[in-house]
Amino acid sequence: MRIIVAKDYEGMCVNGANLIAAQILLKPDCVLGLATGSTPCGIYDRLAGKYQAGELDFSAVRSVNLDEYVGLSPENDQSYRYFMQKNLFSRVNIRPENTHVPDGLAADIEAECQRYEALIAGYGYPDLQLLGIGLNGHIGFNEPEDQFPVATHRVALTESTIAANSRFFENPAEVPRAAITMGIGSIMRAKRVLLAISGENKKEIARAALCGPVTPQVPASILQLHPDVTVILDAAAAALL
Ligand code: PGA
Repeated sequence: MRIIVAKDYEGMCVNGANLIAAQILLKPDCVLGLATGSTPCGIYDRLAGKYQAGELDFSAVRSVNLDEYVGLSPENDQSYRYFMQKNLFSRVNIRPENTHVPDGLAADIEAECQRYEALIAGYGYPDLQLLGIGLNGHIGFNEPEDQFPVATHRVALTESTIAANSRFFENPAEVPRAAITMGIGSIMRAKRVLLAISGENKKEIARAALCGPVTPQVPASILQLHPDVTVILDAAAAALL
């Protein structure tokens, strides 16, 4: 596990964008596993900047996103498909048909989970998987549980995740209670993992995930067993390491 501590959020994003850009330069048709949330926004800004400066070409890149809320349409501004369109896809030359996010409106969520896992497997799993981490240690929406969930599945969100997400919704009743997420097994099959952690409020979970025991109660802790992980943190998130 390589750990890079940047001075601040900006520095962390510069590092993250450089690592993703290097992956695209190395393999122009790479499969990128992408994440949503506030942490990657600055990374996506910089990737878009590199594309606009003519430094990066997304025309052959394929992408698979970690997760999506059950019940939100792609047009809903809180859906993760909407987030990805706004923050990255509409700003670079990635082909729409090469971008994949689970379908939160699928009539049969179980069948959608199987379809999505087969799609990722068909791609050979991501060359590089970008991850954020939740306050409870979740990666994707793999919440603390008694065992590590393997494949893409439907998950009931925990109260702490619902509370953390409610800041984005006008009415707390609108916060989705369930999501589709890639499993821990799907994430662990990525060839490389880039975990981004920012902010003072993440310092305890950063320590638990990176330095504590490997346990499904802290889902991100399993990354200690992955052979190629780079963790980028800002100084505030790294304070207890
Ligand atoms: P955040 O979310 O980047 O908005 O803190 C991270 C996550 O919950 O995975």
